[in-house]
This record gives sequence, structure tokens and C-alpha cells, in this order.
Amino acid sequence: MCNLVNKLIQNGRLSAQEYGELLANNSEELRREMAQAARAVAEEHFGNKIYTRGLIEVTNVCRNNCYYCGIRAGNSKVERFRLTKDQILACCRRGYDLDFRTFVLQGGEDPSYSADFIVDVVQDIRREFPDCAITLSMGEWGREDYERFYNAGANRYLLRHETHNAAHYGVLHPKKMTIENRLRCLNDLKEIGFQTGTGIMVGSPGQTIDHLVEDILYIEQFEPEMIGIGPFLPHHDTPFANEAKGSLEMTLLLISLFRLMFPKANIPSTTSMATIEPTGREQGILAGANVVMPNLSPKDLRAHYALYDNKVATNEEAAESRAKLQARMEQIGYELSAERGDAKR
Ligand code: 5AD
Repeated sequence: MCNLVNKLIQNGRLSAQEYGELLANNSEELRREMAQAARAVAEEHFGNKIYTRGLIEVTNVCRNNCYYCGIRAGNSKVERFRLTKDQILACCRRGYDLDFRTFVLQGGEDPSYSADFIVDVVQDIRREFPDCAITLSMGEWGREDYERFYNAGANRYLLRHETHNAAHYGVLHPKKMTIENRLRCLNDLKEIGFQTGTGIMVGSPGQTIDHLVEDILYIEQFEPEMIGIGPFLPHHDTPFANEAKGSLEMTLLLISLFRLMFPKANIPSTTSMATIEPTGREQGILAGANVVMPNLSPKDLRAHYALYDNKVATNEEAAESRAKLQARMEQIGYELSAERGDAKR
């Protein structure tokens, strides 16, 4: 077995140079060794269980203009929507009946979604579903706002840092967005007590192996409870329309790497994995992921939450198709869990 893989299994850490070497030598054989080791580690903590999260896309209005994202403010072709509190609660009820015990509220940074509104929604979900985890994925806020969300009953927060390198962050985002503020948010979330998730897009325009090493080192010291990664996929109405998509293989290697670094972390096999390749979701799980996040949004609105082209939201990606997803998991030796699945540290 490759020395670096051995070292990673033993220590859960490599040096910066070694992370770089590993990524630069991303062969099929390396991926196989890494995936095998990562799966064994995941199995120790989760058995053959895959946690499920119901993803509710609450608003596609966004004040930001990230160059990669289909719902960026500058995309005038998007039909914008925002769910009311009643619509969000209806999604949760549907999700609860479908055995989901985590609701993930994800949205753009919608100026009409005030902190007061989010607090109100979270409080009502908390009251009606005391046994469920509430995850927010609603972008950058001030510390006091995050504190209010937490006190209202939210447990987890997802905020990918996207890339740790400031110059590369500037390639992906307009000037008024900074990696400093993103990291400030992540630190606040963690200090407040959220189970905190971060992560990156793999193969975003301009990304190098050195950038990825920087991301790994950042994640290593931040110690997130959740790590979300998926390949970059272009959206036709963005400045990155003609950029190449990210690599499924590099994403798989990174999933295995993060599993070996963080045995107990919740690592999803993301929608972008299922989009880039029909068996991508399964490949992510076989590389060490332990979470899936089927879409629980109102069906008629799903198409409007297109972060990238061809995003899947039907069949196994749809919350209402839980049985189909279960069948797909069984085919690779796993099963869906109805547990809440909090990350242990
Ligand atoms: N391709 C892949 N992932 C994307 N995201 C946004 N746009 C794209 C894209 N074009 C990811 C970002 C964000 C998450 C919600 O979706 O990483 O954090």
C-alpha cells in the first residue's frame, strides 16, 4: 500500500507537502486504497447506515453575485421565489412523514428574509418538531444574528468557505465578498455552539493543487463537524458558463481524505455528485461519505433553484422517492437511517 495512505490511516494527518503529493498522484489505484480505508473508518462509526437530511430550498433570491452560481443576483433570467413560513412548515411536515429527522433550510442571501423572519421560522419548526435537527444554510450574517438563530433552536449551520486562498476567492467572487468575512462567520458559528459545516467546490475555475492543500490545512485546523464538497459544474447564465466542470475523481479522493482525517464527521454525497454522473452518489458513499440530502422543496419550484446546469431533483434526489434511494443504497450494501445523526466530536 502507498506509504502516504498508510501514514494517513495511522495519523489522520499529513504534512502540506504530502497532501500535495497525494493529490498530484490521483491514480485509480490510489483512489481504491483511499476509498477502502475511508469506508472501513466510516463503518466503524456509522455501520452501514446513511443519514438522511431533507433539503428545503427556501429562497432563490440573492444579493450576492458569485461568478459560479446560477442564482446570483446578476442572473436576470431566474424566476425568483421565496417560501412563506407556512410553506416551509408544510415541507417539514411532509419530510417528517417521510422519516426525515433533519431539516436543512438553504437559501440565497435574500434581503427580504430578515433575521426576525428566520428566527420566527426556526422557533416554529423547533416547537412542532422537538426531536428534529434544524440546519441552516443561509449565508453570511453578523454574530448576533447567528446567536439569535441558535437560541431559536437551530443546531447546525452549513457555510462552505469555497476556497481558502484569498486570490482564488477573488477569482470566484466579486470584490465586496472576502474570505476574511467568510472565516469570521465560521468562527462565530463554531463558538456559538453550532455543529458547523464547511467545504469547497472541487475544480472551480483557477483552482490549483496548492489551493486544495490550503483548503485541507484550513479544514484540518478548523475541525468542522460537517464537510460538504462537490465538483464545480457550470451554469449557462453565469460568467463561468464556458468553464470546464470539476473532476469527479478528485472529489472522490478528497472525500476519502477527509473521512480519514475526520472519522466521525458528517460528510454528504452531494447533489452535484449525483448530477455529474448517474452513479456519483453511490461512488461518494463508497469513498467514505455517510450522508445524503434529498430534496424536500415544493416540486414546482425545484427547477428555479438551479445553482448549476442539469441539477438533479427528481428520482433518487427527491425526498418523496425515499424508497428508490433506499433500494439504491441496498445495492451497494448500505441502508438509510431514520436517526437524527448528530456529529460526534
Ligand atoms: N457548481 C457546483 N457547486 C455549486 N455551488 C454553487 N454554485 C455551484 C456550481 N456552479 C455550491 C457552493 C455553495 C453550495 C450551496 O452550492 O459550494 O456553497
